[in-house]
Amino acid sequence: MNLPFAAAEVADRLLAWYGLEGRDLPWRHTRDPYRIWLSEIMLQQTTVAAVIPYYERFLERFQTVASLAAASLDEVIALWAGLGYYSRARNLHQAARQVVEGQGGLFPDTLDALTALPGVGRSTAGAILSIAFDKPAPILDGNVRRVLVRLFAWLDDPRGSRAEKQLWAWAEALTSVDRPHDYAQAVMDLGATICTPREPACGRCPLQGLCLAHGQGLAKALPVSRKQQKVPVRKQVALVISAAEGLLLRQRPAEGFLGGLWEFPAADLPDGLAAAQAAGRLRDDLGLHGILEEHSEVRHAYSHFKLELAVFRVAVADVGRVAEGGTYRWCSGDELERLPLHGAHRKVCSKLAGGG
Ligand code: ADE
Repeated sequence: MNLPFAAAEVADRLLAWYGLEGRDLPWRHTRDPYRIWLSEIMLQQTTVAAVIPYYERFLERFQTVASLAAASLDEVIALWAGLGYYSRARNLHQAARQVVEGQGGLFPDTLDALTALPGVGRSTAGAILSIAFDKPAPILDGNVRRVLVRLFAWLDDPRGSRAEKQLWAWAEALTSVDRPHDYAQAVMDLGATICTPREPACGRCPLQGLCLAHGQGLAKALPVSRKQQKVPVRKQVALVISAAEGLLLRQRPAEGFLGGLWEFPAADLPDGLAAAQAAGRLRDDLGLHGILEEHSEVRHAYSHFKLELAVFRVAVADVGRVAEGGTYRWCSGDELERLPLHGAHRKVCSKLAGGG
């Protein structure tokens, strides 16, 4: 491949910089593929600062892939609660079982076998191969993507299929054959700490003299941004139903968005229907009786929509048969504290605790 500079020059500069400036992160004290894999899954779509306490807590509980595989999905999800993108927790658990059942607990060390694990795409597999096994394999996560877009001054949409092909080819061409373990972390660190989205610190960048975007005064302007997309708003009502037995919670189905997490009973609010009416229908559908009281409005941003939740309270004298199916449960205050609730409903809890 024709590059505007020697690939080895990029790797040499990055590795020298990493030796001086690389971050000391918990997963950098191990070569255990289980721990590296766990860190890479947690770091998908999540910052290092947010991941560290979860990573440490998770490993305290699950020291080996076998202990993770033996756990219940509920427990895994409970430890994941708050980290977001919950399909990662489900995939993690399933992948652990695959590694234990199919490979005797030994992590695979090839691209094909790693990408056969749920939740492991080409970039995550590249990170695991490089970091855990010291095998040269390209990585193209969000940080590396931005570094390459700027280094080569890619002026088009960085998300199209043409970009995808080109960026992977550059990622591969630059990957160090001699020190894949360090190179992978160096290029990710550069993206996270120097080549940042809004205010890249070009003055401190080891690649400054090579970077085509910097040379053209374009570093800040790249990557070109997707046209500001409007995030859809979803309106719902939620019921905080109290009885002598506690508050009524339900678990979302294991498959799908926020799968396995808990919430107060909720329903979509159709256009044109008053929130109180929708709340009344929901209460009736649950076979419960009691007077509705408006409680609060809660807003929460999920990855692809914003949720606006109108919260009502109902006190019921007779709990009926609602909790007999297994999906619903009457919870005491302590149980509620321990239950993994998704974001909007955790906020409802805080409002309740605040005396609302
Ligand atoms: N982002 C993704 N993987 C990472 C790693 N191993 N170190 C730091 N940031 C990362």
